[in-house]
Amino acid sequence: MDVVTTLRGACPNLEVCVEPSTLASHGQDWTRFRTAAPAGVAFPASTGQVCELVSAAARNGIPLVPSGGRTGLSGGAVAARGEIVVSFDRMQEVMGFDPIDRTVTVEAGVVTATVQELARQNGLYYPVSFASEGSSQIGGNIATNAGGIRVLKYGLTRDRVVGLKVVTGSGQLLELNRGLIKNASGYDLRHLFIGSEGTLGLVVEATLKLVEPPLASRVLLLGIGSMDALMKVFDSLRSALELSAFEFFTDRALHHVCQANQLPNPFETRCPLYVVAEFDCPDGRVEETAMKCFEHCSSRGWVLDGVISQSDRDIERLWRYREGISESISHFPPYKNDLSVRVSVVPEFLRRMDSLVNEICPEFEIVWYGHIGDGNLHMNILKPASMTMSEFETRSHDISDKSYALTRDVGGSISAEHGIGLLKQPWLGMSRSVAEIEFMQKIKESFDPAGIFNPGKLLPLIETR
Ligand code: MLT
Ligand code: ZN
Repeated sequence: MDVVTTLRGACPNLEVCVEPSTLASHGQDWTRFRTAAPAGVAFPASTGQVCELVSAAARNGIPLVPSGGRTGLSGGAVAARGEIVVSFDRMQEVMGFDPIDRTVTVEAGVVTATVQELARQNGLYYPVSFASEGSSQIGGNIATNAGGIRVLKYGLTRDRVVGLKVVTGSGQLLELNRGLIKNASGYDLRHLFIGSEGTLGLVVEATLKLVEPPLASRVLLLGIGSMDALMKVFDSLRSALELSAFEFFTDRALHHVCQANQLPNPFETRCPLYVVAEFDCPDGRVEETAMKCFEHCSSRGWVLDGVISQSDRDIERLWRYREGISESISHFPPYKNDLSVRVSVVPEFLRRMDSLVNEICPEFEIVWYGHIGDGNLHMNILKPASMTMSEFETRSHDISDKSYALTRDVGGSISAEHGIGLLKQPWLGMSRSVAEIEFMQKIKESFDPAGIFNPGKLLPLIETR
């Protein structure tokens, strides 16, 4: 019997769709290196239905691919091998807001921007923020421990999750930490599920801690001459101001974002590097400090040109230069590398990586941008128009072998925030030791004994059928 018929028989009230357009849309994320080929897409409408679905899948060895807003960039939500996609599109309820605890409890399918808006309506703030927040879902954010532009001040998704409900591989519901701030009662299983990329369990509900809204803020857009100068600017701004973001991009990235969005060049001076920095600016005194800092950096020749926001509209306008980059190059498509190193290593790493890629594939265009404040660099290699996808992938893999070895040698990670997923799986060993991977496999076996959750993602594929 095929998996869809088996599932429909075991869970008669569960909606399982086999419509070709739904299979194509829900079997894919934002990566473009695999073709969607799921057997069906399940749309559970409650936690009870998720438990029922997982139990049936475990009994029958049916692989499940959890799917949120499908904005991932490592193929974590790609279903290319006849799996059943588990969509959370019908689990989008806000379960509650608690003003004393300052928490919001939501089902897994609630969109990130909805949580941000809910916080705002209640005079609070949900600080996890990134370009795809309008469609990404909380369950997916948790599965990848989403980062974004404000990690520097507020931390990762992990730092916001105070309660989690997950369904394990036997269909059992676990309620983890229950919104507590302090809980010293043993292993904190919640953190195992955060960042597990859907390989240990399905997140069905989360309680998220909100924070005080930021004070009025200002944004600086700076043109900078070199990576060493950029680090000096970072250090100066960080010492003088309460920075909430410090992002960089190259002139190549500026070229693409301006072209795709008809944005003017921000300065007459062409600069090799650009920074978007945001800081809390509650009064004129802080503004004065910022101006002094800017003058100091300019007088040293670190900053070649710059502009400071004068209004909320300006803030939005300046952020577009950074936030629009990813989408502006998505059509090439890019081979995405989401690397992290200790902040102090950034300039040397970037230099070595640039020359390594140029040496192997001089004809490839590299677009760099990222979250310098977190040591997180996005290296995007653009596919030349004349090259087929398969040749591009092969050549990019050659680069990965060497670039990930370099990342390992400087003590970095091959994924800072996008996850390992399907695309980076062959190189997991570049960031994690053999012993670590063995422990990860044992942890997976205990939560997912039938091996049904997201097989082949993060950890190597073990055949179940
Ligand atoms: C970003 O920082 O813009 C996102 O991580 C998306 C990307 O890397 O393209
Ligand atoms: Zn990023």
